[in-house]
Amino acid sequence: MTPAEQSRLAAEICGLAPVVPVLVIDDIAHARPLAQALVQGGLPALEVTLRTPCALDAIRVMAEVEGGVVGAGTLLTPADVKAAKAAGAKFGVSPGATQRLLDACAEYDLPLLPGAVTASEVMALLEMGYTVQKFFPAEQSGGAAFLKSLGAPIPQVSFCPTGGISLKNARDYLGLKNILCVGGSWVAPKDAMLAGDWAAIVTLAAEARALR
Ligand code: 3PG
Repeated sequence: MTPAEQSRLAAEICGLAPVVPVLVIDDIAHARPLAQALVQGGLPALEVTLRTPCALDAIRVMAEVEGGVVGAGTLLTPADVKAAKAAGAKFGVSPGATQRLLDACAEYDLPLLPGAVTASEVMALLEMGYTVQKFFPAEQSGGAAFLKSLGAPIPQVSFCPTGGISLKNARDYLGLKNILCVGGSWVAPKDAMLAGDWAAIVTLAAEARALR
């Protein structure tokens, strides 16, 4: 799949809701009720980070939840891409971009949101055809003000910023022309998951959905 096609699909997924939950799943038993709660609250696109031993199994389970569009985050290597695709991920997210990673996404037909922070990184990805990119870590890298400035000379690229974003500052990003959605873990707090308080997560998702 070409970078342009990947970005076209990534834009569709990022357009489903203002927030893509970034999920760190420690217990496979949480996967299904968590996905159900987030979808019920109005957030269909879900990013499962490949940072825990059960992450790929979680993607398999969550991919079955009706209404959900499940992707894999923290993709670092071609092996991650292959495993994510095999688990049923519909999209991939990476904190950065390496040629090996980009080649793997093309080979395995996984729409990727590659990560970029500097103008040169954004331009290098744009040259390849990636017009939708992740901006990470967003708050630490200059936040909404930085992205607004970047949008003046490089309006062709739209972003999904993640890192340090919450209900408090999400609107700063969502008001910008070059932002499709934001990513964040705040909609799936660890304590709520441990307590099995899925109703609380439905509420957090609904609040996030109402951001736009
Ligand atoms: C991540 O990959 O960890 C995301 O950017 C989530 O960051 P957050 O926990 O600050 O929302």
